[in-house]
Amino acid sequence: MKIIRSQYSTSQLISHLQEARARLLDLVADLDDGRMTGERLAIVNPLRWEIAHVAFFQEFWLLRHLRGFDAIRPAPHLDPDKLYDSARVAHDTRWDLPLPSKRETIAYMSRILDRVIEETLKGGRDLRDAGGYDESYFLELALLHEDMHSEAITYTRQTIGCGDRSRRPHMFRFDGETDRLGDAQIPGGKFILGGEDDSGFVFDNEQWAHEVFVKPFSISRTAVTQAEFAEFVNDAGYRRRELWSAEGWRWREGADVDHPVYWRSAGEDKWERRVFDQWVLLEPDLPVIHVNWYEAEAYCRWAKRRLPTEAEWEMAASCEPAGVVVVAPRKRKYPWGDDPPTPERANLDWRAARCVAVNALPAGDSAFGVRQLIGNVWEWTATDFGPYPGFAAGPYKEYSAPWFGDHKVLRGGCWATRSRLIRNNYRNFYKPDRRDVWAGLRTCAL
Ligand SMILES: [Fe+2]
Repeated sequence: MKIIRSQYSTSQLISHLQEARARLLDLVADLDDGRMTGERLAIVNPLRWEIAHVAFFQEFWLLRHLRGFDAIRPAPHLDPDKLYDSARVAHDTRWDLPLPSKRETIAYMSRILDRVIEETLKGGRDLRDAGGYDESYFLELALLHEDMHSEAITYTRQTIGCGDRSRRPHMFRFDGETDRLGDAQIPGGKFILGGEDDSGFVFDNEQWAHEVFVKPFSISRTAVTQAEFAEFVNDAGYRRRELWSAEGWRWREGADVDHPVYWRSAGEDKWERRVFDQWVLLEPDLPVIHVNWYEAEAYCRWAKRRLPTEAEWEMAASCEPAGVVVVAPRKRKYPWGDDPPTPERANLDWRAARCVAVNALPAGDSAFGVRQLIGNVWEWTATDFGPYPGFAAGPYKEYSAPWFGDHKVLRGGCWATRSRLIRNNYRNFYKPDRRDVWAGLRTCAL
């Protein structure tokens, strides 16, 4: 069995955990107890529940699972398993729980993080669980889980119309050329899809690298822009049955929509878009965002294009031209190579507090000149989320397997994704009707 370990040292993991917690709490710093409960919606969690769930998860794996400790209680009369275990507490019941106040919740979270750090620093023991997963694996699992929830809280803030929490001007607005970059030609061939065992932390759904054959294809060097999507909307794209799949049309009729969520008319063929708590005119050179899989599919049919499969997406991101005709000995971790993301390469880590123009950041191009595969906006793929050959669930069994079958794969991360989470192999997955995600698309030629 392949044993997965974190690439980080213990002290690096601890400082990442502290930074992740500061980011999480900053995202709710301006919200009172009422807003921290919020409206009962299928696409959000009550924030008082969500932030505590992150700490519960960390405690569960590091202190209870690995060390056999008893649970820390948020209050003497409250059993955390009955409050914060996402596998046991059904989503729509989370608003009915006796959730502690925000202040009490943050105190509970601090107790857990302090204890995790204290125990981790004791060291001296080679801690492993029965499956062979070591302490560094669980520290990174808890870290990345916290990062995922931080990103989800940015969706929630957009959904409920809070401010953007950026204290900086939008510094990465790109005002350069806006001409289309066209398609990159990918020659296809044998390709190794998935996580390789020398790549550090790997989620179970990326395990393991396996050979697939990809036909030659052409993929857009840039994501679809707001201007391009507006052309589809203004061409009655939401009212033309022939542009939609049967399932997509059912969704469209049920939702009764004729434009993307958070858009409103600003006069004939003009649109405004809500960005957190502010309305702005469409930004033509920024990627379209908050479109679901059905909308992406209908746009493609209108544009006489198609969505890439996830194998095509990953090949465009990680292969070098010489590595395409034969099975490459290794793949690039990021489109530009193996060096970590920088502000010049990818819009990640909340740095710009929003998307940048689709043709910005050329330093992050893949070997084929495909731009912004990592960062800025999640990209829907044509692929149903499913297991790779030989899949075996990791210790966190509810991470992937329950969602196989009715979710679609997204790739690449967005501006709110943390750079320590995202890489070419990373598979995200959402149901095809989700519109709250920072998700857009890139297209392939038919
Ligand atoms: Fe979670």
